Amino acid sequence: MEIKVFETMQDASVAGAEIIASAMKGAGHFVLGLATGSTPVPLYRELARRNKGGELDFASVHSYNLDEYVGLDGSHPQSFRYFMDDNLFHHINIDPANTHVPSGTGGDHEADARAYDEMIEAEGGIDLQVLGIGNNGHIGFNEPDSVFHAGTHVVDLTDSTIDANKRFFERREDVPRHAITLGMGGIMRAKKVILLAFGAVKADAVRALVKGEVDPQCPASILQLHRDVTLLLDRAAASKL
Ligand code: GLP
Repeated sequence: MEIKVFETMQDASVAGAEIIASAMKGAGHFVLGLATGSTPVPLYRELARRNKGGELDFASVHSYNLDEYVGLDGSHPQSFRYFMDDNLFHHINIDPANTHVPSGTGGDHEADARAYDEMIEAEGGIDLQVLGIGNNGHIGFNEPDSVFHAGTHVVDLTDSTIDANKRFFERREDVPRHAITLGMGGIMRAKKVILLAFGAVKADAVRALVKGEVDPQCPASILQLHRDVTLLLDRAAASKL
């Protein structure tokens, strides 16, 4: 695991964009795994800037997002589909048909989850996965649990996650209680992973990810077993390493 610490989240995000740009260079068909949350916003801004400047081409990119709230469709401003359109897809030359976010509104979540994994598999897996990290060590919406879940699945969100995400909603009661998330299999099969974390609020999770046991109580700790992970941190997020 490579750990890079930067003065600002902007510097870390530029470094993240650089890693993505190098991986995409000359790749042709490229499968990009994407995350939501406030953390990747400056990264997405930098990707959009490079795309506008003609340095980075998304015409052959197929994107797969990690997760979605159950019950919110893409027209809901707090849905992750809406977030991605708003923060990235509408600002780059990716074909909208090639952007994928799990559906949280289908009638059969289990079937949707299986279909999502099959689609990624048919693409040859994820070439590069972008991750943030929850305050409790979650990645995607893989919450602390007694086991690691391999496939895409529906999760009950923890109180800690509901508390962390309520800032995006009018009231805590409006935060969905369930989500559909890519599992650890999909994440661990990604050829390359970059994880961004900013702020003191992430310091404990980053410490557990790097120095703790590989333990499903800190889902991100499984990344210790991945052969190509780069952490892009600011000083505060790295302060307990
Ligand atoms: C969200 C997402 C994660 C994200 C995390 C941290 O709810 N499901 O993919 O990494 O929580 O969010 P933030 O970047 O806003 O701190």
